Amino acid sequence: IGTGLILGIESSCDETAAAVVRVGSEALSNVVASQMSLHANYGGVVPELASREHLRNIVPVVREAMSRASAAAGHPITFADLDAVAVTAGPGLAGALLVGITYAKALTFGLDKPLISVNHLEGHIHAVLMETRQLNELPMELPLLALVVSGGHTHLYLATHEQGGETNWTYRNVGRTVDDAAGEAYDKVAKLLGLGYPGGPWIDALAPHGNPRAVPFTFGEIKHRAPREGVTNKKAPTNTEGPHFDFSFSGIKTAVLRYVETHNMRDSIEARRAVLAADPTLTPKSEAVIKLCDQQTLDLIASFQYAVVGNLQRQTFAAAEALGARSIVVSGGVAANSELRRRLQAEADRRNLPIAFPSLALSTDNAAMIAAAAWPKLLARDFASEDLGATPQLRL
Ligand code: KG4
Ligand code: ZN
Repeated sequence: IGTGLILGIESSCDETAAAVVRVGSEALSNVVASQMSLHANYGGVVPELASREHLRNIVPVVREAMSRASAAAGHPITFADLDAVAVTAGPGLAGALLVGITYAKALTFGLDKPLISVNHLEGHIHAVLMETRQLNELPMELPLLALVVSGGHTHLYLATHEQGGETNWTYRNVGRTVDDAAGEAYDKVAKLLGLGYPGGPWIDALAPHGNPRAVPFTFGEIKHRAPREGVTNKKAPTNTEGPHFDFSFSGIKTAVLRYVETHNMRDSIEARRAVLAADPTLTPKSEAVIKLCDQQTLDLIASFQYAVVGNLQRQTFAAAEALGARSIVVSGGVAANSELRRRLQAEADRRNLPIAFPSLALSTDNAAMIAAAAWPKLLARDFASEDLGATPQLRL
């Protein structure tokens, strides 16, 4: 290992990101070009538009990451100084992933440097680990339970690594959503209520103004059917026997829709949608936004969030207890949620379990987490081959 510098590249969804990270812990730069406003008009990510934006952004974003890294280091850092380039190989949108992968392959081929392939979900987990390393805190005790909760994913992993060095991390998937991801439920419910995109920050900001016990949403038992022979079901549960810690978030979305319909909330929702569409300066934290919501709406929002967070909390701690986890890390876009942070922290404290969340900037998609996850692989010389491709359904 030379400089310990890894350039990370991430383009799996709607952020084009590049970062330079030293020894898996110190982010010298972390540049994210978000396409959020582009996709906001459609209420979700449009794959074709995403690929085109990544193509437009990848070169300037990498250049910016290199120049900010130089500024942070106080001396010029060039491509020649890198020990490796790490790129997200999946899961994600095929066309979007290919932009980052093709760029990273060309760069490493031209520089004769190693290429490291990183699973996006492993990246989210290392977003937290890199910060604990950086703060010189004690390493998270193993095995650790990771809750990765975002717009595309809701997973629980039991993770550990080899003794005597932080290489060869292994991850056992012990829970996943059988339908929508938690962030997807936030986005769909926010859209249904005439709020902005992405929905998480809107619901997060409005929920404290409502009564979380106004509408009692419940989560039923998840029925697991054994997959048929020879059939691979992407959304199949993790296991069909023994305890499982899977999630389901499509039911609560339907329950919110039913509530809206039976309580004649349509007109007020359309009025709010029109005001927000006409004034793009309104953000989730604008005072004016609260005034756009009547008490019934605020109560519905608070109840939705209370139920979703409660469900994430129950499954996470049930898994931690059953599997003997000795610490918990939470990551992904929904890890930015203030109620989730507060309630998970409180229960972890009660149980005397260390728990860690990423800083807000590292909760959502970024490339520093990809470079950080690549560090143990660089130590183990676990490099990708020249024919690395995009794997949209890549499992961890
Ligand atoms: O990790 P991320 O940036 O992208 C994916 O890999 O999906 O996560 C984005 C998701 C969106 O669904 C967004 O609504 C949600 O994270 N999110 C939040 C909050 N901030 C972002 N959900 C709840 N509360 C928040 N404060
Ligand atoms: Zn993500």
